[in-house]
Amino acid sequence: MENSFPENFMFGATTSSFQIEGNYFADGATASNWLTFCHNRLGYTAELLSKYGCDHYNRWREDVQWLNTLGLDSYRFSIAWPRIMPESYDSVNSKGLDFYDSVTDTLLEYGIKPVVTLFHWDLPQYLEDLGGWANPDSPKWYAEYVKPVADRLGDRIDVWLTMNEPWVFLHLGMIKGIHAPGYQDLQHAGAAYKNIMKAHSQGAGLIRSVNKHSEVGISCNITPFIPDSYSKEDLEATRRIHDYHNKLFLDPILKGEIPDIAGQAFGRYAPDWTRDEIDELQEPIDFIGVNYYTFYRIQHDPDAFLRAGSTNPRPPVTDMNWEIYPPGLYEALKWTYNRYGLSLYITENGCAFNDQPENGQIKDDYRSLFLHRHLNQCKLALQDSIPVKGFFIWSLMDNFEWTFGFNKRFGLLYVNYESKERILKESAKLYRDYINGNIKDPPNASLDIDSLKNVAVWLDDIDFRPV
Ligand code: FCB
Repeated sequence: MENSFPENFMFGATTSSFQIEGNYFADGATASNWLTFCHNRLGYTAELLSKYGCDHYNRWREDVQWLNTLGLDSYRFSIAWPRIMPESYDSVNSKGLDFYDSVTDTLLEYGIKPVVTLFHWDLPQYLEDLGGWANPDSPKWYAEYVKPVADRLGDRIDVWLTMNEPWVFLHLGMIKGIHAPGYQDLQHAGAAYKNIMKAHSQGAGLIRSVNKHSEVGISCNITPFIPDSYSKEDLEATRRIHDYHNKLFLDPILKGEIPDIAGQAFGRYAPDWTRDEIDELQEPIDFIGVNYYTFYRIQHDPDAFLRAGSTNPRPPVTDMNWEIYPPGLYEALKWTYNRYGLSLYITENGCAFNDQPENGQIKDDYRSLFLHRHLNQCKLALQDSIPVKGFFIWSLMDNFEWTFGFNKRFGLLYVNYESKERILKESAKLYRDYINGNIKDPPNASLDIDSLKNVAVWLDDIDFRPV
């Protein structure tokens, strides 16, 4: 049976450098801001992170073979800036490039398309020391880093992401302080906001100049927010958080508009813009990468950022305490396409469950169900002519889940962090079968995770007046 996805539809898996590679000082690499943050704030040293982790830097050949075993036709991975420019923003470490060059070639030998994210949060620490993204030179640093990567890999990479989830590393890293670099500093965040977008646009232009045929995009975590009640206050809070989360970066770079919410979020530290600066952000891109995991119900909360707080998720939830809601994927795709009109890739979707091996098998029934239902939502989006070009599960393997450490297992492959053994989970087999058109109902198929929760309310075309 056909799986009825378009012929060129890409089925893949995603990882990121910091979360899987370990060996942070190998071959001339230096520390990232995430390594520093782990060390200073989470109590994980570099040795521990390398010893107890995926060790992908040494085991990448095996991991490429696993992609092949899974029957995936594409693989999204990220490049570690501190491996490419370990000492200064204008000197390149060829050994760093060699690593990603070999990964790329080996993927292609197996017929697996490499999809590259240029920045998945691991900024070199020496640049963080210079003010990181708040330094007005940061777009230049980023461009200097992108150039050698594009020169070396540009002939073989067809799909590029300039960066992953700018909202997350800005908000969680510089306002909330729970991700690297760990600041609670609006002034820093306001300055960074502008520089991050400039960097994105310059990077997109550089990639295009090296390979005119490649596609360039940016991954954003598009999240549905719904009001917890129809009170005016809850509706307005929902509107604020939706604008802040979903439009903060995409409106400027795709519509040439700085959303009003930027002013409310950064207050007196909101950056000033000239028209020329805004125009320069309009470097054309080809697609948006949608990362979707969950949705939130929003209540007015005078003590919360932007006076908008979220309510407790309702079951069923994943180990991240993220409510499972497959139709939210459809809504996220629809909203993004309606508003920006570009092709889409689902660059991340997945769930954490801590299933352990029993008699050599990992029966991760909830992941199977999760995956099956989200793929079905993707299919619905395609049926409604939303141009989705690929689906990448987060993640190929269990890995280091940032602030949460190693306990949140998102992988299709189980990783024994001591022995480094990888074991195929049952959900991986379901994914493989699904891709091959052998679509079976997963275990727990009767569990109700698809019923509508009125997420459509968050779509822009619905007025936020009380009803
Ligand atoms: C996303 C990140 C990714 C991973 C998943 C669970 O926000 O891009 O690195 O941590 O969440």
